[in-house]
Amino acid sequence: RRVLFVTTEIADFIKAGGLGDVSAALPRALKPGYDVRVLMPGYRQILSAGKPIVRVAQLPASHALPACDIGRLVCDDGLIIYLVLCPSLYDRDGNAYGDDFGVGWADNDIRFARLALAAAAIVNDPSLLEWQVDLLHLNDWATGLTAGYVRWLGRRYVPSVYTIHNLAYQGVFGADRLEPLGIPPSAFHIDGVEYYGQLSFMKTGLSYASHVTTVSNNYAREITTPEFGCGLEGLLAKRALEGRLSGLLNGIDDRWDPRHDTHLAPNFGINDWHGKRANTQRVRRMFGLDPSGGPLFAVVSRLVSQKGLDLTCEIADTLVAAGGQLVVIGRGEYAIEQSLVALAGRHPGQIGVNIGFDEGEARQIYAGSDFLLMPSRFEPCGLSQLYAQRFGSLPIAHRTGGLADTIQDGINGLLFDEMTLEAYRATLRRAFDLFHATDLFYAMRRAAMAGRLHWRQAVVPYRRLYAELLAETSPASS
Ligand code: ADP
Ligand code: GLC
Repeated sequence: RRVLFVTTEIADFIKAGGLGDVSAALPRALKPGYDVRVLMPGYRQILSAGKPIVRVAQLPASHALPACDIGRLVCDDGLIIYLVLCPSLYDRDGNAYGDDFGVGWADNDIRFARLALAAAAIVNDPSLLEWQVDLLHLNDWATGLTAGYVRWLGRRYVPSVYTIHNLAYQGVFGADRLEPLGIPPSAFHIDGVEYYGQLSFMKTGLSYASHVTTVSNNYAREITTPEFGCGLEGLLAKRALEGRLSGLLNGIDDRWDPRHDTHLAPNFGINDWHGKRANTQRVRRMFGLDPSGGPLFAVVSRLVSQKGLDLTCEIADTLVAAGGQLVVIGRGEYAIEQSLVALAGRHPGQIGVNIGFDEGEARQIYAGSDFLLMPSRFEPCGLSQLYAQRFGSLPIAHRTGGLADTIQDGINGLLFDEMTLEAYRATLRRAFDLFHATDLFYAMRRAAMAGRLHWRQAVVPYRRLYAELLAETSPASS
């Protein structure tokens, strides 16, 4: 069966966070059984990667959305990526969503409506790509309009899965954007695209997709409550009641393995603590830290309020005073970047900060650190803690979302319940005690490294869900 997987990032070429990892792993893990092909914008980073791109279709302009071509790129392992080729929208410096300073593009409504309408056109016209879509899999707000366009074009129904990777990013635009985006005024109501008088891409996906998933069980439950629902808890609770909301936990794939990762020197596996320590020394040197026998803590993160970095800044003095050191790699909001840089300035030789995004360095830090700090306010799934575990670094995290589902306190990481400095500090103290209780520390490290949340298993519930939806004969009731 043929699945069109619509996304806005893929780790092979362009990644802002975990969505890039999932988009690279899940379509591949679904083979064999499903012929999954990816559809995404033809960003500059992909065009300039030097891979042949064959033009396979053309789509006309529609309202304010410019005409575009569909290109086909084949990855080395055979994964087919269809690209929406529209240079005026996607051939730019910056990342998938905004410029190099993290400011979102002013025309993001057009950019992602163009992607969504291209997906809907492919569904509607089986001869367009000579590849007929049986099921659509959409990801996050930027693909949300797809489910709407499929319905409004109305020529062909296919079931759709809409995965929420992060409910906090919603793509809300003024109601005056309906007309330029070609959204029928009749869809502007509380059971459609309307969100407090505005147009919400996220809500469009939630309203019109056959089935909504998110990336952990716990987050699936949390988003039906006002605390985490971002104003959409009512709709989400309704979809849950219909049996149309489920939490499917992310996995990680073979590309994350300290035994084979080419960024590490040396590679290491379970029980090779000598090899692990060599990576620790290397990270210390990379960040200009003093030699130390204490624990090395790490942050690998987008620098946004979700990730609770303000709390980490607050406890950093305690951490250093207790004999710990800290390395940070991250990029994001300017104010958070500045507080981290100031922190490093206050603790030369003990805290090192790299404001940047570098996959190789992130991997070296997972491998070299003893603990990963992740006091997220909310966390749909979280992949950083999984990578840390696999690389022998114990996550210290807030018990929320996917962190609660993937970290067992005292077994493969440490959790604190309340999002307070006191709770975080107390857990930090436990980490120091643990570090000095060598046997227990190594036992936890072994458990963390051995816990295999592999996509091979994580993909099983997706297969089941696809099969169920494909077996349904008529459109979902929503
Ligand atoms: P989110 O998607 O909310 O950012 P996840 O934990 O799911 O959180 O995924 C984050 C991904 O981005 C991981 O692959 C992590 O290694 C990577 N990452 C985050 N910050 C950086 C950075 N500064 N440099 C390199 N990789 C990073
Ligand atoms: C989002 C979430 C993160 C999740 C990732 C991949 O960016 O913030 O928790 O792991 O998507 O699903």
